[in-house]
Amino acid sequence: MNFHSSNSLLAVPSGALKIPEHPATEGNGDNSLLLSLVIPTYKERDNIQNIVSILSRLLDEAIPDNYELIVVDDDSPDLTWEVAQSLMPEYPQLRVMRREDERGLSSAVIRGWQAATGSVLGVIDGDLQHPPEVLTQLLQKMEAGADLALASRHVDGGGVSSWSVVRRFLSRGAQVLGLIILPGVLGRVSDPMSGYFMVRRSAIANATLNPVGYKILLEVIGRGNVREIAEAGYVFRERTEGESKVTSKQYIEYIHHLIRLRVSTGRLGKIRRKVNFPVQRFLRFGAVGLSGVFVDMVILYLLSDPTTLAWPLTRSKIFAGEIAIFNNFLWNDAWTFADVSMQQKGWQPRLKRFVKFNVICLAGLVLNVLVLNIVFNFLVPNRYIANFIAIAVATIWNFWVNLKLSWRVTEVK
Ligand code: GDD
Ligand code: MN
Repeated sequence: MNFHSSNSLLAVPSGALKIPEHPATEGNGDNSLLLSLVIPTYKERDNIQNIVSILSRLLDEAIPDNYELIVVDDDSPDLTWEVAQSLMPEYPQLRVMRREDERGLSSAVIRGWQAATGSVLGVIDGDLQHPPEVLTQLLQKMEAGADLALASRHVDGGGVSSWSVVRRFLSRGAQVLGLIILPGVLGRVSDPMSGYFMVRRSAIANATLNPVGYKILLEVIGRGNVREIAEAGYVFRERTEGESKVTSKQYIEYIHHLIRLRVSTGRLGKIRRKVNFPVQRFLRFGAVGLSGVFVDMVILYLLSDPTTLAWPLTRSKIFAGEIAIFNNFLWNDAWTFADVSMQQKGWQPRLKRFVKFNVICLAGLVLNVLVLNIVFNFLVPNRYIANFIAIAVATIWNFWVNLKLSWRVTEVK
């Protein structure tokens, strides 16, 4: 049967969530494709026609007849799957899967990939919040040899359209949590929450994927064999039709997912790659930190000493601390991470780095006090040893999180 001429639904694969190494080709000819792009949908009735038409136009131009679009719908009550199915005669590259027994974004994507024939597997949201134009950039990066190409909100050209401070903070908080629990996975990309990416089939074939919730990219990097990663910036658009399915449940699932991946890919599982720890940068960061201690002391003396300004101690310390943070920022920006700041010139990016550095260092201070108390009260009843441990932990925190968020040094080319 020629699949171009029928508009029957794709069969839903069952069993383990594993991508076959060789695509399931239909018929007898070799009809494997370059790109299989999955569009997971749940209640996207008002978006589906639009996105299918935009993506088809784009891909017909870039890689005519060498792609397929696979809508994977979880039996939406608004009958998104039916609308998608009705589009099939008009869009010969479109396939539709209706899942009635399984639920969830991540497994929907994998089920779609299991039925795919492409050598590159991709995913894009069905609500047009991911700008379709970025697809061609991702494709180029794959063709240039990347194993995985993702659209990122956190590189040049990327961003979020009108998110509140709270929403940005929550999103970054989730990223930082991941950087602590799973540094080897989340440290590799600038936007680990992205649900807009492509991966080479060979990089994830035969790995049994076991995702929870929304963040399929973590699973792919964590369990696949992804060597080279590339990124392209994109602006996360606002939704115009339908609504987001994210609730607080997804935050819990995210944490659950992080821990599960940690346990199964950690010491007990196979260790795929060591975290690439930049020793030289860390030593510079430490030296700058020491200079900060010196600045802090001098300012504290100038402000609070009875022979100088004789300010109250707390007020003096707040000033001294902030000036030390400023001092450290300047040195880190000009020396420790000079290569990165060179690429992000101008006052606005610099101010952004400074604000991030500041927030991270203040969180580091809280961590410092917390660790000091925990170690002193429960582990080592010696305040100086406890303080030494607290400073070490806070320094590593400051270094790692600033490395990944303020001066973003990802593995990405
Ligand atoms: N099949 C299926 N099953 N699709 C789903 C489900 C589900 O249970 N839940 C959501 N989707 C579909 C939506 O219809 C939409 O096309 C896409 O997955 C993203 O869902 P949204 O609810 O719109 O998520 P968002 O706007 O908060 O986006 C967040 O998640 C994305 C994951 O792809 C952000 O983190 C994005 O950056 C990320 O790309
Ligand atoms: Mn969305």
